[in-house]
Amino acid sequence: MKVLVVGKGGREHALCWRLSQSQTVRGLYCASGNPGIDRLANPVALSPADIQGLLGFARDNSIDLTVVGPEEPLAAGIADEFNRHGLRIFGPTRAAAQLETSKSFAKNLMREAGVPTADFAVFDDFEAARRYLAAHRGPVVVKADGLALGKGVSVCPDPESAMRALADAMERRRFGEAGARVVIEQCLGGEELSFFALCDGENALALGMCQDHKAVFDGDRGPNTGGMGAYSPVPQFGAALEERILDEVVRPTLRAMKARGTEFRGVLFVGLMIDGEQIDVLEFNVRFGDPECQPLMMRFQGDLAEALLAAAEGRLERAAVNLSPSSAVAVVLASGGYPGDYRKGIPIAGLERIEGAEPSELKVKWALDGTRVKVFHAGTALRDGALVTDGGRVLGVTAMARTLGQALSAAYDGADLIQFEGKHMRRDIGRRALDYLARNS
Ligand code: AMP
Ligand code: GLY
Repeated sequence: MKVLVVGKGGREHALCWRLSQSQTVRGLYCASGNPGIDRLANPVALSPADIQGLLGFARDNSIDLTVVGPEEPLAAGIADEFNRHGLRIFGPTRAAAQLETSKSFAKNLMREAGVPTADFAVFDDFEAARRYLAAHRGPVVVKADGLALGKGVSVCPDPESAMRALADAMERRRFGEAGARVVIEQCLGGEELSFFALCDGENALALGMCQDHKAVFDGDRGPNTGGMGAYSPVPQFGAALEERILDEVVRPTLRAMKARGTEFRGVLFVGLMIDGEQIDVLEFNVRFGDPECQPLMMRFQGDLAEALLAAAEGRLERAAVNLSPSSAVAVVLASGGYPGDYRKGIPIAGLERIEGAEPSELKVKWALDGTRVKVFHAGTALRDGALVTDGGRVLGVTAMARTLGQALSAAYDGADLIQFEGKHMRRDIGRRALDYLARNS
């Protein structure tokens, strides 16, 4: 089949890398791609936001399956448009994407479906929200209803900070129209976990668990980013929890979505808080996470194109997903200053020491251990034939090995070989899992 991937970051590089190994794929295209992706997929010079352009391209080139990476085209209705023209697409319709694009939609659906989630109230009126907060004791979380680039959520330990967050969203409109409506919810404690499920409207298959690292600095300090690293599986949580999440979260959600006439096809990314036996959904996303997709694609075994096509065609019942039991981890190399302002166009050196044919001691060690190292491009560009930085998150150095410890040391060894001015990374990716493993060995 001919496959078109929509997007241009590390997530899409990981998807293209796995798709390029699918037996059934004989043509791979990516709009708009990046220097890493362009080595695997034919670049298509169309923006991921250009839905009419993408539709025309898919039609003219007899694309059999389009796989959407980011949420924006889904929120803008790319799947509706492709469906209307009889083109296969992996990703939910605009109405089903509300699980991510409207927090109040997701919370109300969870309440209706009996999916465990924090108590909440929804407000369109600032005065009513203010009165609610004044009468409420204890920490709360204030969330702008709409898409706010991951910045619309404030965890508020006291009433003063909650009032500030509310005024920021509703009065000052810091997140634009996304903050016209807010969700105020009870603040939960515990450990965060991400779970991914491939969905075809009715059936779901587990794609594995991950833990992300959102804060920019070690020890979860500093402002939030899109994600500085991720690993999978998560040794703190086992297969029994995976089954519970499928049963108590994913399946009831799919049933409720179908009952509303907005069945969900695509990947459901569930953000959870786990506190002992208690599980609660913090949020849904309707796409793969980035960088989470990078370790997940390392572990994915089998024909990815077939699996995504089965989801798009509503026939997951007869499909299966296999994940390697090995551990995979992605360490993000970011531009100096990110998530604030940063410069672009800085030369990147050292990638050939990982990917080139030149032998080295490290490569021999990786080969002997059965470790795989792969560098996914997130924000890079070519300038006069040389690789330069072109985004906040520049590269995802991803490794898979028999143990998490081995995967981490390979990823960090690889990350240290790559140089660009201002480069920074977290040094504690996977630390929580390593501590857990040390305590339980
Ligand atoms: P969300 O985008 O809704 O996942 O929220 C972003 C982050 O805010 C989450 O990853 C959590 O760290 C935190 N958060 C969201 N909701 C809650 C909650 N009810 N209790 C505690 N922390 C939360
Ligand atoms: N890494 C978090 C996300 O993709 O939403």
